Amino acid sequence: MKPTIFITRKIPEDVIAPLKESYDVKMWDQEDVPIPHATLIEEVKHADALFTMLSENINQEVLAAGKKLKVVANMAVGYDNIDVAAAAELGITITNTPDVLTESTADLAFSLLLTAARRMVEASEFVKNGDWKSWSPLLLAGQDVHHKTIGIVGMGSIGKVVAKRAAGFDMNILYYNRSRKPDAEAELGAVYTDFEDLLSQSDFVVCLTPLTEETKNMFTKEAFQKMKRTAVFVNASRGPIVNEEDLAEALKTGEIAAAGLDVFVNEPISADHPLLMLNNVVAMPHIGSATKETRYDMMKLCVKNIDAVLSGKDPITAVTH
Ligand code: DGY
Repeated sequence: MKPTIFITRKIPEDVIAPLKESYDVKMWDQEDVPIPHATLIEEVKHADALFTMLSENINQEVLAAGKKLKVVANMAVGYDNIDVAAAAELGITITNTPDVLTESTADLAFSLLLTAARRMVEASEFVKNGDWKSWSPLLLAGQDVHHKTIGIVGMGSIGKVVAKRAAGFDMNILYYNRSRKPDAEAELGAVYTDFEDLLSQSDFVVCLTPLTEETKNMFTKEAFQKMKRTAVFVNASRGPIVNEEDLAEALKTGEIAAAGLDVFVNEPISADHPLLMLNNVVAMPHIGSATKETRYDMMKLCVKNIDAVLSGKDPITAVTH
C-alpha cells in the first residue's frame, strides 16, 4: 500500500502531480474554507504526511491522532500553529518554507510602510468616491520615508531584506534582535539598539519577529507611548505580538500616526473590529508571501520535504525544537 499524504487545503493539481506517482494523495476540497478541526483529526489517523496551512492548529491532539504520521510540512516560514515540542516527543518531523518567501514578504512589509506613510489607501478611496474637487497644497499629505529612521524588530532573513530596501531609500536603520547581526551591520550599516531606544528613535517601527512565548504581547500601550507621535507601525509577522486594543487606542488618540497591518490576533479579523474603523490603518489579509511565484515555490518546497521524509531522506528545511 502506498503511503498517504493529506493536504489540508485545495491546492493546484500541477503541484501535487509528482506526488501522485508514489503516494495516495488526499486533499480537503475547498480553497477558501479551512478544514474543520474534527475532520482533520479523522484524516490524520490515516496519514503518513500532512501538508498544512498556517490557519490549522496542529496541536498535540492532532499529532497524537496521527498514528503513522511522519512529517508535517507547513506552508509558511512561521510555525507557531504547530506544537513543535509535542511533535519532537512523538518523533514527527516538522518542516517550514524559509528563504523562498523572504524577498516577497519583505516587499509587502516595505509596501505597507510606504502605503501607510503616504496614505495611499485613503487617497485611492478619495478618488474613487468622487471626493477629489481640486489639487490643493496639503491634500492627503503624508510623511516622507526617505532619509528617515526605520526600526526593525526581528532581524532574521526577512528583516535583513527589509533593511536592504530601506537602505535604497537612504534610511537610517536601527534593529533589535535576540542576537547581534554583524552581517547586517557591516553590509547595510544597521545599528543595534535595545527595544526602548528603537521605539523612541524610529519613524517607522517594523515588526518581523516570530511569535514565541517571549514575543507574545510585545507591543503594548507602554511600547506605543514610547514611540514618536508621528511614528508608523508595521506588523508583517504575527498578530498576537501586538495588543490590538492598545494599538487601536494609540492610533485613535494620536499617540502614533498610522499602522500597516498584514496580520491580526484573530484571522480573518472581523469587519467591525475597532482597528478597521480607523482611517490611519492599512489592513491586509495576511498576504506577506502572496505572489504567484512565491506561493508556488512554497508549495513545491512542502512537496519536496514530504517526499524526502517519506523516502527516508533528510528533509530540506526541518524545524528544530
Ligand atoms: C509565513 O510564511 O509565516 C507568512 O506569514 C505567510 O505569508
